[in-house]
Amino acid sequence: SFTPRVFSGIKPSGGLTLGNYLGAIKRWVDMQDEAMENIYCAVDLHAVTVWQDPHALRQGTREIAAGLLAAGIDPARSILFNQSQVHQHAELAWLFNCVARVGWMNRMTQFKDKAGANAEKASLGLYAYPSLMAADILLYHATHVPVGEDQKQHVELTRDIAAKFNHDYGVDFFPLTEPVIEGPGTRVMNLRDGSKKMSKSGESDMERINMLDDADTIAKKFKKAKTDPEPLPETVEGLAGRPEAKNLVDIYAGLTDQTAEAVIAEFAGAGWGKFKPALADLAVSKLAPISDEMKRLLDDPAEIDRTLGRGAEKARTIAAPILQRTYEIVGF
Ligand code: ADP
Ligand code: NA
Repeated sequence: SFTPRVFSGIKPSGGLTLGNYLGAIKRWVDMQDEAMENIYCAVDLHAVTVWQDPHALRQGTREIAAGLLAAGIDPARSILFNQSQVHQHAELAWLFNCVARVGWMNRMTQFKDKAGANAEKASLGLYAYPSLMAADILLYHATHVPVGEDQKQHVELTRDIAAKFNHDYGVDFFPLTEPVIEGPGTRVMNLRDGSKKMSKSGESDMERINMLDDADTIAKKFKKAKTDPEPLPETVEGLAGRPEAKNLVDIYAGLTDQTAEAVIAEFAGAGWGKFKPALADLAVSKLAPISDEMKRLLDDPAEIDRTLGRGAEKARTIAAPILQRTYEIVGF
């Protein structure tokens, strides 16, 4: 049996969004209170599967770290680092490239979404991304991975890789990791197109709330968010078939740690002219203290780098023996 251990990561490609906050960061903070070791990572090796400006990438990594620290990740209780500083991630990913099958990668919907119509022009790294993600998780024998709904398929692939490795080498070395996808914030949608998830790499800034947006910008974006003309329903069942309405209710629920039922109970029959400003005020009240602290931390990039460096040292003390043992198992 494996020590309960949490691992998760965020790409430093563009600023953090409300989707990242509700689907990942907020839950990572809460999981620090559970009896598990917590390991959180800015996954810069993943970011470069699509070309990144080097200066922006370095800054983006610090921004992720500042966002996590400001939201309440405590480096005394959690290991916080960036992926490229622990070279074992890339080494284990290579072995997993040799375990995973091409057919498995072909079934990954995120690759299809990200590569678009011209998949031949996508980088080989983007295609193999889930294999690196499996390495991120299994390098720490992580048992639990809190992620948004969009990452479910990749965590399932991680289990497939662990199972095939264990089977191929006749060992019981890697755990079958559980995705932790809970609560109303696990699939925050784009404010302009309710069929797409809110993403830091989306086309228009109006479609997402950034964690560093100021109060006026947040209010404007929610005001312009696409909805249908109907008021909020009387019961939560009335959200069926209304993706934009459901999304705004779910965001409200996620920000207040309530269920969608409780939010509907409060706003039953209300018009958007009432709900949207309430949602904007709520988002500002939750995000402003975090973004203020983020900006304060970003004033001292050297201190962020030192925090990440100490985290990487701790991460290596777990990762190095696990990679070493993996190398012995495969015959290196
Ligand atoms: P992005 O899609 O913004 O580039 P990442 O791929 O770096 O974000 O994902 C970091 C974490 O944030 C993952 O756990 C992912 O599932 C979560 N996440 C990203 N977007 C959303 C969203 N719109 N709703 C809920 N969770 C999300
Ligand atoms: Na903990």
